[in-house]
Amino acid sequence: TRHARIHPSILSADFANLEAELARIADADSVHVDIMDNHFVPNLTLGLPVVERLQQVSPVPLDVHLMIADPDRWAPGYAEAGAASVTFHAEAATAPIRLARQLRSLGARAGVGLRPATPVEPWLDLLAEIDLLLVMTVEPGFGGQAFLDVMLPKIRRARAAVDGSGAQVALQVDGGITRETIVAAADAGADVFVAGSSVYGADDAAAAIAGLREVAGG
Ligand code: DX5
Ligand code: ZN
Repeated sequence: TRHARIHPSILSADFANLEAELARIADADSVHVDIMDNHFVPNLTLGLPVVERLQQVSPVPLDVHLMIADPDRWAPGYAEAGAASVTFHAEAATAPIRLARQLRSLGARAGVGLRPATPVEPWLDLLAEIDLLLVMTVEPGFGGQAFLDVMLPKIRRARAAVDGSGAQVALQVDGGITRETIVAAADAGADVFVAGSSVYGADDAAAAIAGLREVAGG
């Protein structure tokens, strides 16, 4: 089985103690940073000034997930801040190929996110342009929602296309990932797992991360 990478989401962390909350997940592969603007999704989190500070103090790389309108305008700033990956939404970008190339030229991995009802097929010819494909397994906007099993066929189709393309594209799932649901997501072909409430809601976050990795098969 492929190596499972675990990205805890700071959406479920204590926003008054972010540096300490990052230290709790120092064993993770990256920290997933959910940016929401109250337009693309009905919730508001944090923005570039906070991400610039997180980048300075984080023990792990930043995986930025932009749930915002007009990512063409805002996404490059997160790459300039030093985020390891910047994921924008397919539904929100005006010129996604241009934006992905710009993110890469700034030294970030370029990611494209798909809401549950957004088909993956239009992206299958563009895999060489991106480094990460995010299949949302909840409607974006809030932590703590239930995993949508109906996304499993989409994950399988994405995995087959990535393998067939030969491109080095990470296949990320985000939403409702627990020790139970991660098994099916990994079996369908996902290799990067975002987990908010199931890691930050645990007393021992490091043990929760290790547990997710173990049941995902490595
Ligand atoms: C939801 C966010 C997720 C969220 C996941 O819109 O994109 O990253 O933090 O939280 P859980 O793991 O609790 O579903
Ligand atoms: Zn997210």
